[in-house]
Parts: sequence; structure tokens; C-alpha cells
Amino acid sequence: MTGKKTGDTMEPGGIFAREGAVRIIVHSSKVRFRKGEYRDVPAMYSLDNRLFMPYAAYDLETFQEFIFNPSIFIIAAQAGDDLAGFLVLSTGRERTMTVITIDVEPSYQDHGIGTRLMALGERMARMKKMAAMLLQVAAGNGPAIRFYERLGYYRTRFMKGYYGGVEDGWEMKKDIATAKLASKGDSSVSTERRKPGNGRG
Ligand SMILES: CC(C)(COP(=O)(O)OP(=O)(O)OC[C@H]1O[C@@H](n2cnc3c(N)ncnc32)[C@H](O)[C@@H]1OP(=O)(O)O)[C@@H](O)C(=O)NCCC(=O)NCCS
Repeated sequence: MTGKKTGDTMEPGGIFAREGAVRIIVHSSKVRFRKGEYRDVPAMYSLDNRLFMPYAAYDLETFQEFIFNPSIFIIAAQAGDDLAGFLVLSTGRERTMTVITIDVEPSYQDHGIGTRLMALGERMARMKKMAAMLLQVAAGNGPAIRFYERLGYYRTRFMKGYYGGVEDGWEMKKDIATAKLASKGDSSVSTERRKPGNGRG
């Protein structure tokens, strides 16, 4: 797959091609969506460890491995000098794209960045001929579960003690072969922590 450069925005397979149609301004900065890169690793690690409990957060080495794993795709949301958020995806078996994680910096939440990251992730999955998005989410993470349900994801499996035996989880799915892209009223993903290839959603 070749990437096309548009300013500092890499377009793998053109998933960012229509980005200009969606304008998100937060704290006076326009949010740009681009491919995640090695230089993002410290900021991704820092954000992830602020958003998630130690038993669920990924370590620095894992983020470094994400960058070099050909099955993993990272989409970054850049606002000025800040990494406002990011989405990590992994291609899996049976034409399924797993959401390893989605992280949005608290001061940038509730401005549509998460929704846009999911829409781009689903576009990437369709481009790769995936049939479904899959994710795992902590059963106690009500706001994230509502976020996914609003995007069209549905609960497929309850996972007792999924997070290190400390917390239960839900697996959620969205069939994307026919579904619309993530936006208010539709969507889907999947996750499990600590293991590349699985997600936390
Ligand atoms: C879950 C998460 C990724 C959502 O990201 P976000 O950027 O806040 O998502 P959005 O802004 O697109 O949507 C969030 C809410 O803001 C609202 N919203 C969307 N666009 C908006 C806008 N332009 N202005 C104001 N609010 C907006 C949405 O209605 C949505 O409400 P909901 O509670 O009904 O879902 C983010 O909260 C996060 O990083 N949480 C911590 C990490 C986490 O739990 N990740 C998921 C692990 S499974």
C-alpha cells in the first residue's frame, strides 16, 4: 500500500482523503488526522497511562511494538503541538478488525474526535475488506459503552474477570460490510488489554 503525502498528513490508502469535509476545532486548534508514527510513542504511552488503570494500561515497549507491527494501524489526532487522541487497530482472523484502544486526551473529549477516529478506523477496515469491527471494553466503563452503542456497536459476549481477574468486560461488535461509517446513530469495534492483536476498545 502506498501513502500519499498532503502537507504533513500521510494518507495510507486514502482514508484521510475526505478529512477536509470534517472540521473539528478545539482550544482554537484545528484537529488533523494522520497516521501514527514512532515520534508519537511517548505521548501515546503517557496518555494511555493517565486514562487507564495500571492493570489495563499498555507499557512503552508495547507501543513501540505497535509501530513496527505490519498488522497494526494507528491513527493520530493532532491539535497544534498536542496529541489530542489516537486509535490503534489490528487486523484479525475472519475478516475482523480489532480496536486495540481508543484514547482521547480529557481536555479534548466531547468534541467529536473519538467519533472521527472511529469513522476513519472503519474506513480503513473496509479498505482492507474487513467484514466486522470488534472490541473489548470494561463493563464498568459506561461512557465508553454508550459511545460505542451510539456508533452502532452491540454487545456480543460478557467476559467475567477479563481484565486481569480484576474487572469484567464486554465484547462488542459492528458489522461494517453493510453498516454506515461511525457517526451519531451507528458504528462498532473490539479490544483486550496488554496483548497486541487484541484490544481494549
Ligand atoms: C470514549 C472516548 C474515546 C470518546 O472520545 P471523544 O472524543 O470524547 O468522543 P466524541 O466527542 O466523539 O463523543 C463523545 C460524546 O461527545 C458528544 N459529542 C460529539 N461531538 C461533539 C461536539 N462536536 N461537541 C460536543 N459534544 C460532542 C457525543 O454526543 C458523545 O456523547 P455520548 O456520551 O452520547 O457518546 C473518550 O471519552 C476516551 O478517551 N475515554 C477514556 C478512554 C476510554 O475509555 N477508551 C475506551 C476504552 S474501551
